[in-house]
Amino acid sequence: MLASVLSYGLTGIEGYPMQVEVDCREGGMPTFETVGLPGAAVKESRERVRSALVNSHLRYPYGPTTVNLAPADVRKEGPRYDLPIALGLLAASKQLPLEPLKELLVLGELSLDGRLRPITGVLPMLIRARSDGVKKALLPVDNAREAACLEGMEIYGAESILSAVRFLRGEEKLEPMPLLSYDSLLKGTKPLCDLSQVRGQYAAKRALEIAASGGHNMLMIGPPGSGKTMLARCMPGILPPMGFEEALETTRIHSAAGSREGLVTQRPFRAPHHTASAAALVGGGRDAMPGEISKAHNGVLFLDELPEFPRIVLEALRQPMEDGVVHVSRVGAQCEYPARFSLICAMNPCPCGNFGSRTRRCRCTPQAIERYLNRVSGPLLDRIDLVVEMDFVPAEEALRDRSPGEDSETVRARVEKARAMARERYKGTGIYANAHLSGAQLEKHCALSGEADRLMQAAMAQMKLSMRAYTRVLKLARTLADMEQEDRIAEHHVAEALAYRGAGDKYWKG
Ligand SMILES: Nc1ncnc2c1ncn2[C@@H]1O[C@H](COP(=O)(O)OP(=O)(O)OP(=O)(O)O)[C@@H](O)[C@H]1O
Ligand SMILES: [Mg+2]
Repeated sequence: MLASVLSYGLTGIEGYPMQVEVDCREGGMPTFETVGLPGAAVKESRERVRSALVNSHLRYPYGPTTVNLAPADVRKEGPRYDLPIALGLLAASKQLPLEPLKELLVLGELSLDGRLRPITGVLPMLIRARSDGVKKALLPVDNAREAACLEGMEIYGAESILSAVRFLRGEEKLEPMPLLSYDSLLKGTKPLCDLSQVRGQYAAKRALEIAASGGHNMLMIGPPGSGKTMLARCMPGILPPMGFEEALETTRIHSAAGSREGLVTQRPFRAPHHTASAAALVGGGRDAMPGEISKAHNGVLFLDELPEFPRIVLEALRQPMEDGVVHVSRVGAQCEYPARFSLICAMNPCPCGNFGSRTRRCRCTPQAIERYLNRVSGPLLDRIDLVVEMDFVPAEEALRDRSPGEDSETVRARVEKARAMARERYKGTGIYANAHLSGAQLEKHCALSGEADRLMQAAMAQMKLSMRAYTRVLKLARTLADMEQEDRIAEHHVAEALAYRGAGDKYWKG
């Protein structure tokens, strides 16, 4: 007899519908064939299914059996089809009625004793299924909890194959997962470092707040021990929580990359080490996994000791920084992963670290300084909106100043206000921060007039700004205006934005 079970597959972060067809005849040679481009873990499914059924006192049908995973021209990976295959076998051998399987999405891995194990990538598959009109899903119970934030779908969680079978036979009642509201999922942030601990460095703190308010890219340059790493670690504490749509986008990536955390509600802060490979950073490898830049989607990518990153790795960032997506290819498939992140980087200005410092002497030759700075290419610098120079805060000065600085919570409240203004402006466009503006949106929302425009024209000519730099200055000025809750971009907003762009010239054009 023939049975068919609805399941879903995943290419990149896109789910696609899949039918698990099982044809099973009693009597004859006991053969088992899996067709439809199954990967190794899918082929091994047979062994897990057999043990799970036998150990659950269900009958494993011995006889010529064929399992087809349709569409047959896409490679299937992972153990997520154990449960649909097992249910298909039971239905094809008349141990289970066909009716309740209709239009029910089934996914899950089996352990040999029949328990259901959670699988990865559930949310992207369910999000797609929901938009395809699928109304019901049967999943391992851990995955069902993960998916409980999805409105418009009945999600059933089963502990074991036996429980799933009894549910489908109507012998056991399973309740669909209660829907979790997004607000109930928002967790408080536990930042690595609070801004109140950072002494002095007011300019850098302001730049960090601007970067957080508009999603801009920032570079901190200064001697060792000036607090660059410390300041970057304050970033998660001042970022506002993600909206539901943003959270879904980010979760799809994390879920496809193997995370079983459920909905990601906090903006990611990814800080890969400079020894990370290009594939780890931008994505790829054998399984075309999302890289750090995609995991940082809607959040922050922090590259500490920027010149230590291999050139090839830094250059690979250029295209995704412009487009907000990265194309990763592997044998037989191309995946597109979103990668819209705010890049925060830190570096010393020279090998000894003291070049440009007011208090310490640099011992590097001009050639050594130039070589060091040139490890960061011009095109990458062109994409940095805010450059801040940092110098030491001498310990005696820092200790004398006992007044408690502003804490992260206070700054975060201001950031949230600026972001709320932008969100309101871009409602329904899929843009969440000023840094993401482009084309017509940019012209519409960043129009300059009068003094602001004259200043911009003069600066363009004098600083010889590229067209890209020009648009980036505009977006930064937009954020500065938002921080003051101003609808119009004024001259002083443009002036401040230009200052942040020009701050690197001392090193790179000096
Ligand atoms: N402005 C500051 N306020 C308070 N503490 C500071 C400050 N700057 C540095 N420190 C202290 O010095 C330590 C080292 O700072 P941090 O690692 O941030 O320096 P850095 O600029 O990243 O140096 P490097 O260039 O060597 O990486 C911090 O952990 C902190 O304890
Ligand atoms: Mg550091």
